[in-house]
Amino acid sequence: MTDASETDHHDLTLPRPVRDSQSEMTEIVLPNDANPLGSLLGGRLMHWIDVAGAMAAHRHSRSYALTASIDHMDFLVPVQVGDIVILRSSVNRVFRTSMEIGVKVWVESYIHDTCQHVSSAYLTFVAVDREKHRVPVPAVIPETDAEKRRYEDAGRRREIRRSEAERRRRHSV
Ligand SMILES: CC(C)(COP(=O)(O)OP(=O)(O)OC[C@H]1O[C@@H](n2cnc3c(N)ncnc32)[C@H](O)[C@@H]1OP(=O)(O)O)[C@@H](O)C(=O)NCCC(=O)NCCS
Repeated sequence: MTDASETDHHDLTLPRPVRDSQSEMTEIVLPNDANPLGSLLGGRLMHWIDVAGAMAAHRHSRSYALTASIDHMDFLVPVQVGDIVILRSSVNRVFRTSMEIGVKVWVESYIHDTCQHVSSAYLTFVAVDREKHRVPVPAVIPETDAEKRRYEDAGRRREIRRSEAERRRRHSV
């Protein structure tokens, strides 16, 4: 991220590293986020995941972005009212107008002094302009071993998404 006074000199189409758009969002679970037993609603967590993913997508693409898809998700541990939820998002890979964003969710209990992995999600966002026309996204540069692994895996996931979409199309006619 650059200072506002520097943006005029910044080429927004240049590739940029994953770390430039990595984002973190923290929420405390309140009663309105939970079911009658005090457990976080899955739908609320999905909303937070979408928002956390959008942050990385906007920061990387410097554009508006639409959620095109969210892959399968598991909720591994229950989250209770009062827990702190931490969502970390980063761009795994850019294609042309779309980008895969990974969001990893953690729950922290300050009472029990624990931090557990709750869920991981892969979302695809499509960059658009104000008229909702698709726009190309600058390439992303994976630097760490983990970023390089996620970059490779994102290519495989895209192929799986495409073949599943094709299969659904064939079965719906
Ligand atoms: C997402 C959307 C823009 C795709 O538009 P489209 O005309 O179907 O676009 P195309 O099939 O030509 O694909 C455009 C890009 O989106 C990607 N894409 C489209 N549907 C996708 C899906 N279901 N999952 C992942 N990627 C998808 C394509 O791979 C392509 O990526 P690329 O440019 O990087 O190669 C369009 O379906 C849309 O506007 N959906 C509603 C989005 C929305 O409102 N989301 C909020 C939640 S309701």
